[in-house]
Amino acid sequence: MNYSRILGTGSYLPKKMVTNDELSKTVDTTDEWIATRTGIRARYVSNQEETSSYMGYHASLRAVEAAGLSVNDIDMIIVATTTPDKGLPNTACLLQERLGVTHIPAFDITAACAGFLYALSIADQYLRGGIIKTILVVGVDVLTAVTNWEDRSTCVLFGDGAGAVVLQVTDKPGILSTHLHADGRQKDSLTIPTWLPGQRKDDEPAYIHMDGRAVFRFAVKALGQVVEEALAANNMPQSAIDWLIPHQANLRIITALAEKLKLPLDKVVVTVDRHANTSAASVPMALDEAVRDGRIQRGQTLLLEAIGGGFVWGAALIIY
Ligand code: UT7
Repeated sequence: MNYSRILGTGSYLPKKMVTNDELSKTVDTTDEWIATRTGIRARYVSNQEETSSYMGYHASLRAVEAAGLSVNDIDMIIVATTTPDKGLPNTACLLQERLGVTHIPAFDITAACAGFLYALSIADQYLRGGIIKTILVVGVDVLTAVTNWEDRSTCVLFGDGAGAVVLQVTDKPGILSTHLHADGRQKDSLTIPTWLPGQRKDDEPAYIHMDGRAVFRFAVKALGQVVEEALAANNMPQSAIDWLIPHQANLRIITALAEKLKLPLDKVVVTVDRHANTSAASVPMALDEAVRDGRIQRGQTLLLEAIGGGFVWGAALIIY
């Protein structure tokens, strides 16, 4: 039986870090409010050069190196992003060109903060099917580019970054299962209402809008259900999870889920305090951090989950 195995992970954070205290000089907020409500203390903000393809490129090089492979071993590139460099071509093609592997398929998928889970699931199907041997999956976003820096209800929440994994087909258990969901009825709760310039009224900028309370309520419920679904599909008790690698939007949501799974917080990878919400990058960046600092070991069981605007959400159970 075929499985997809994570061979290597990598990530990239922009050079510039902005603390809550720095933000509170330009917008009516405080470190205390942000930290208490969200757990966020700082975020990284990309510069003009640090686009999705640029950050994805650096994260990918690190993942390929960690996998012990060369870029020429990659057979397909999937990029999850809501903030592509350009309308056309897709960010995966720009990344493919940067990597110098201009003979392999490369495409983007858009599923907001759940984008990495969606991309991972697609890659898993190709690998399990034996169609392709090695896939590079990247989660990357520059949400600060679509942030209204005068809106304190959103601008304190987001940061930029990229995470990447190299997956390869194997006969030993790797990704056990992935579980994806969507509910378009919630389309107005978290949205960038306009995108193409021609759609904008009076050049209204394309900024992110969020009904924070509605997202919070839905997230706690949906993530609780999808992690239960993942465990049930594998006949696995909660106690089998070595590491929860959650989407990093709000420490209160992460804590609620850990409590539901009866997992102590030291079994949960948390980066939201330093990275804030990096959308599609949040799960692969957290994964990479815990792999590189030695917390996550080969053979351990990982539970990944994420939810984003749509709503779209998902989970994956993985033997690392
Ligand atoms: O990535 C997709 C997933 N996204 C999420 O999971 C986000 C989910 N939602 C949340 O994390 C929380 O709802 C927020 C952190 C966004 C907001 O926390 P909240 O406890 O729901 O606060 P609230 O929106 O109900 O606002 C409470 C108060 C309001 O003042 P009044 O009306 O009570 O006087 C806001 O105006 O806090 C005020 N407020 C702020 N105050 C200081 C809102 N933003 C700020 C701010 N600084 N940055």
